Amino acid sequence: MSILLTGGTGYIGSHVAVAVAQLGHEIVLYDNLSNSDEAVVTQIAQIIGRPLTFIRGDIRDTQLLQLTLRAHGVAVVVHLAGLKAVGESLVSPLDYYGNNVQGTISLMQAMKAEGVRKIVFSSSATVYGQPKYLPLDEAHSLSATSPYGRSKIHIEELLRDVAVSDPSWSIACLRYFNPAGAHDTFLMGDNPKGTPNNLMPFIAQVAMGKRARLEVFGDDFETEDGTGLRDYIHIMDLAEGHAAALEFLGSSQGWHAINLGTGQPYSVLQMIRSFESVSGAAVPFEISARRPGDVAACYANANKAKSVLGWAAKRNLREICESTWRFQQTLAQRLK
Ligand code: NAD
Ligand code: WQD
Repeated sequence: MSILLTGGTGYIGSHVAVAVAQLGHEIVLYDNLSNSDEAVVTQIAQIIGRPLTFIRGDIRDTQLLQLTLRAHGVAVVVHLAGLKAVGESLVSPLDYYGNNVQGTISLMQAMKAEGVRKIVFSSSATVYGQPKYLPLDEAHSLSATSPYGRSKIHIEELLRDVAVSDPSWSIACLRYFNPAGAHDTFLMGDNPKGTPNNLMPFIAQVAMGKRARLEVFGDDFETEDGTGLRDYIHIMDLAEGHAAALEFLGSSQGWHAINLGTGQPYSVLQMIRSFESVSGAAVPFEISARRPGDVAACYANANKAKSVLGWAAKRNLREICESTWRFQQTLAQRLK
């Protein structure tokens, strides 16, 4: 089957592309490269051992999407394209609604016109807002503390309305917790442009000596060591979760929201210690003020993914840190 991945050259998209290509599917990557590099296409081809199609395009370009869906006989779309920096979304909300929400409407219009009715959407645990209980299951109420988070809620809701209006649609909104780590080959991983917003790439860059120290955002949360608790999920597990979701869409209809997490939380200090122990490198840090909007703890109840998709995360924190470290070293070699 032919699968279109919007945002396919990004961190998560590239790993999903490899996982589904290795199941024998044809993959078409569609990305405007606003936050990724075309070199990823070569790395994917190297890993899967065959060439693939890359289209440089914007999801707001409905016409180009239609042409692409038609030309490649696309059966399913994995929709990962989007802007994802929480802080930036507070400064530029129109960019976030335009890119994420308007972009998704454009994609759905193109799919409708071309008769493609199956889509996996990259949602986020951020849609749960401030947790009312833990672990978070899919029945938890939705709220957001940023335009980024609200763009994800708007998209989930518009996708549900589409599924209600026409039962031939099959839609899975995968709510990712904290993706981290790198591919088993260490050829691909999280390599953000500019200063990393997320914890793991920041820790990795400090360990590599690219940055002097990590700022730990608050040590006065209601958690055992006072730092924030999160559910870090290995990127390979996350990619396999998408493969399971694609199979699920083959035999289901309607709209579904499914958490992709491990259910096992770790604190910021535990992440630092684990990374230091795996890498043997020091990660100097200092405690600073809480980051606005951060919650004390956020982790998944992952039962639905197990029962509906037959999927559960298999890899542990050590494997997350080890692959991140090995990827950083591969990257440094490549840049020499
Ligand atoms: P990423 O920035 O690495 O990948 C997103 C890709 O989308 C980039 O390659 C970017 O160039 C592309 N893109 C952005 N706007 C586009 C547009 N208008 N048209 C075409 N391409 C466009 O981010 P990622 O971490 O791989 O995230 C992928 C998806 O998963 C995003 O939708 C993100 O919101 C969601 N998500 C990410 C996380 C996380 O922590 N990484 C957590 C939850 C959800
Ligand atoms: C993890 C922990 C920070 C950086 C964000 C988005 C969410 C989702 C995933 C897309 C927190 C602490 C971080 C640093 C730190 N993305 N931290 N120093 O905040 O759980 O979620 O990314 O959907 O929407 O909000 O992830 O990696 O930014 O932070 O102390 O330099 O690390 O306070 O406790 P978060 P994160």
